[in-house]
Amino acid sequence: MITHETNALYRANETRYQSMQYKRCGNSGIKLPKISLGLWQNFSQTHALSNARNMIHAAFDNGITHFDLANNYGPPYGSAEETFGQIMKKDLMPYRDELFISSKAGYDMWPGPYGDGGSRKYLIASCDQSLKRCGLDYFDVFYHHRMDPETPIEETMRALDYIVRSGRALYVGISNYHAEETQKAIEILNALGTPLLVHQPRYNLFDRWIENGLTDVLQTNGVGSVVFSPLAQGLLTDKYLHGIPKESRAANDNIVHFGKDNITQDKLNKITALNELAQERGQTLAQMAIAWTLRNTVVTSCLVGASSVEQILSSIETLKFASLSDSESKKIDHILYGP
Ligand SMILES: NC(=O)c1ccc[n+]([C@@H]2O[C@H](COP(=O)([O-])OP(=O)(O)OC[C@H]3O[C@@H](n4cnc5c(N)ncnc54)[C@H](OP(=O)(O)O)[C@@H]3O)[C@@H](O)[C@H]2O)c1
Repeated sequence: MITHETNALYRANETRYQSMQYKRCGNSGIKLPKISLGLWQNFSQTHALSNARNMIHAAFDNGITHFDLANNYGPPYGSAEETFGQIMKKDLMPYRDELFISSKAGYDMWPGPYGDGGSRKYLIASCDQSLKRCGLDYFDVFYHHRMDPETPIEETMRALDYIVRSGRALYVGISNYHAEETQKAIEILNALGTPLLVHQPRYNLFDRWIENGLTDVLQTNGVGSVVFSPLAQGLLTDKYLHGIPKESRAANDNIVHFGKDNITQDKLNKITALNELAQERGQTLAQMAIAWTLRNTVVTSCLVGASSVEQILSSIETLKFASLSDSESKKIDHILYGP
């Protein structure tokens, strides 16, 4: 395991490809690291650039080639892309061809009728803004962030196809689309000649919705998946077992999607039991939660978030442990759902 110290001139570690494992993304030419890093939280202009830089370095030095962004990651919106752009410019441009960088549009981004949803106007303008903030010529994959029921899906898919044909991205992805919507998107994109590379859904021990139809659609059509919030934003770690630490995501009042209310007694009981099982395996609960997502053959990459270098290194270490056995998976189900 390579740890990293900030230095003025970044040179990627030469052994970076020695231990990371890579998996083919569906039926495509792309292989992704089994662990990818997302910049949703902790990379905005309100966070220390030095920590953001150290985290990106530590990830790449240990074989994480895939970094995930979106137009609205911040706060304020756009600032995670700006942070990433600064790190690209200073450190990573020589390694651009070794990186697989994604961004997205789909949630509210700017005021008025054209800064939200799934229209051609929004997606193309937002992609251009994101490229500028990141200082990139192209994204490796550009996602529609969520299904927009008000825009014809044909328009949204045509916009994604155009984003590829115009050189703004190499592949297209969709995120948070349900099974039937995904099937429809796949058919439209196939007819346009720009097959869907990847779906990005939430997937963790507390949220298994993808097993109810979506994974079948992805498997049948040879589409990969990069699954987000594998740690349920930190809940599936040992961090909340004895209260809410001051520096944690749950304690941060600026974060609207996760807070103290998410840490219920029922969840704590389950986390405690899961933590004991992880200890029996000789690993942390976070590592077992990541391993659990990767046991699903449809999952290409587990997209973690982090607030420190140590968390990233610990997540990568998951790959050193044996996969979950059937009996361990059954024990997990028993903890989650009872006998
Ligand atoms: N497509 C979408 O709609 C969508 C939605 C959400 C996220 N995403 C993507 O998925 C990425 C990951 O999402 P996420 O941040 O929710 O993922 P996550 O991995 O479930 O949660 C990350 C948080 O867990 C805590 N953590 C991580 N490793 C830990 C460890 N070893 N021990 C203790 N705590 C640990 C940290 O919280 P603390 O800050 O408390 O330390 C960290 O910020 C995002 O960055 C984004 O790229 C996509």
